[in-house]
Amino acid sequence: PAPTPGFPLPTNHTQQAYDPAADFTSKWTRADAKQIMAQSNPNVAPGQNSMSPNVTMPEIPKDFPAMNDDVWVWDTWSLTDENANQISYKGWDVIFSLVADRHAGYGFDQRHWNARIGYFFRKTNADPAKDKWNYGGHLFLDNTSIGNTEWSGSTRLMQGNKINVFYTATTFYDVAERNAGGGGIAPDAAIAKALGNIHANQNGVTFDGFQHTKLLEPDGKLYQNKAQNPGFAFRDPYTFADPAHPGKTFMVFEGNTGGTRGSYKCKQEDLGYAAGDPNAETLAQVNSTGAWYQTANVGLAVADNKDLTKWSFLPPILSANCVNDQTERPQIFIQNENGKNKYYLFTISHQFTYADGMRGPDGVYGFVGNGVRSDYQPVNNSGLALGSPTDLNMQANAPEGPDPRQNGRQFQAYSHYVQPGGLVQSFIDNVDGVRGGSLSPTVKMNFKAGVTQVDRSFGKNGLGPFGYLPTNVRVGGEGLY
Ligand code: FRU
Repeated sequence: PAPTPGFPLPTNHTQQAYDPAADFTSKWTRADAKQIMAQSNPNVAPGQNSMSPNVTMPEIPKDFPAMNDDVWVWDTWSLTDENANQISYKGWDVIFSLVADRHAGYGFDQRHWNARIGYFFRKTNADPAKDKWNYGGHLFLDNTSIGNTEWSGSTRLMQGNKINVFYTATTFYDVAERNAGGGGIAPDAAIAKALGNIHANQNGVTFDGFQHTKLLEPDGKLYQNKAQNPGFAFRDPYTFADPAHPGKTFMVFEGNTGGTRGSYKCKQEDLGYAAGDPNAETLAQVNSTGAWYQTANVGLAVADNKDLTKWSFLPPILSANCVNDQTERPQIFIQNENGKNKYYLFTISHQFTYADGMRGPDGVYGFVGNGVRSDYQPVNNSGLALGSPTDLNMQANAPEGPDPRQNGRQFQAYSHYVQPGGLVQSFIDNVDGVRGGSLSPTVKMNFKAGVTQVDRSFGKNGLGPFGYLPTNVRVGGEGLY
């Protein structure tokens, strides 16, 4: 692409595939992420949206309905198979959400410290505009999961009625941390799974028989641990099969670069500027800021047995060192383009986790390559796939304390989850001061050849039904329910 005056060129990425076990980590570079600002309009009236409509989520109405009156609902995923298909089980669509009690006396921003996995179901042929999701309650019995809170993951239907729930077991140790929302003893985090049974009849869906197994804790080498950084991230497992490596099961997850917080120093490859680029930053310039504190990565692990109870770490597939500190809820989505499998890595991130000198919206980011491990090309050359309406000319904020002069929709949605057909689901966080805790209208994002575009012909001006997570594969019970 032609460079934007005053901005550097993005890094050249080949999309070349490497062996999943190879020691190659793709870099989301500062040169790449600088394209977010290069593509943003510097001249909008303050508080408007400065991003291209192609990457801007349409505005959510302020009078959105609550999905459930008793629990706040945020990160959500479907019952899937190993190829990201969404499964209708005996005539029911099933989704899993982090939930927290709306009436327990803590606020929406304390949800993380009180998170449980809940589930909802509705008839596969329901009218998504009219028929509500039925709340089934907590997925696991109280005090049975590993850890004292349950954070995000993914759920896979296995043989028969067996399901594997992959989740983050987060353990908080003190009340200050748990109820006041930070500042106390740092939590532990492990990736775990629970094998259990799904049951369905004409009344709905239930689960039982869960057996929990701890799968992975950060090793401190490839993946940062708590001793190295109390604010470390190690969470959000998503498992999948790769047609290029039949018989293997892989997992992507959110991590940080191993090593003590603050010891990392930015490298030339994290900057990714072409030699002689007149708008490049120098290493010395970048390292004179605190940019090295931001060390997100997307981790990869491979299962060592068929029961998926034993896993080994592989090197991260993507790092965002000196760019951003959090690449959350990663997913791999394989799409055939011109007879070739293209691997899309999607991951969510925030304004407030960007490194010094970098800026971007809350939303979903994407990367495309020829394999699970490849030299990933950021979508739209920047990595930004879909963000909430934001004036990127203004300083970064956080959802609990937005700048009133900013676009009131800058935190309208988070935790975007890409489904088959480019349907993107998310939860409502803050719509012009009204806090959410319910699923957003689903939007459609067309993506091909590394370019994404919001489909504004979908639904009403681009907004589909609230919490629209349809299924595309049917299992069991044909015609019975
Ligand atoms: C994203 C997220 C996840 C985490 C969960 C905790 O919204 O931060 O990374 O698992 O929320 O509530």
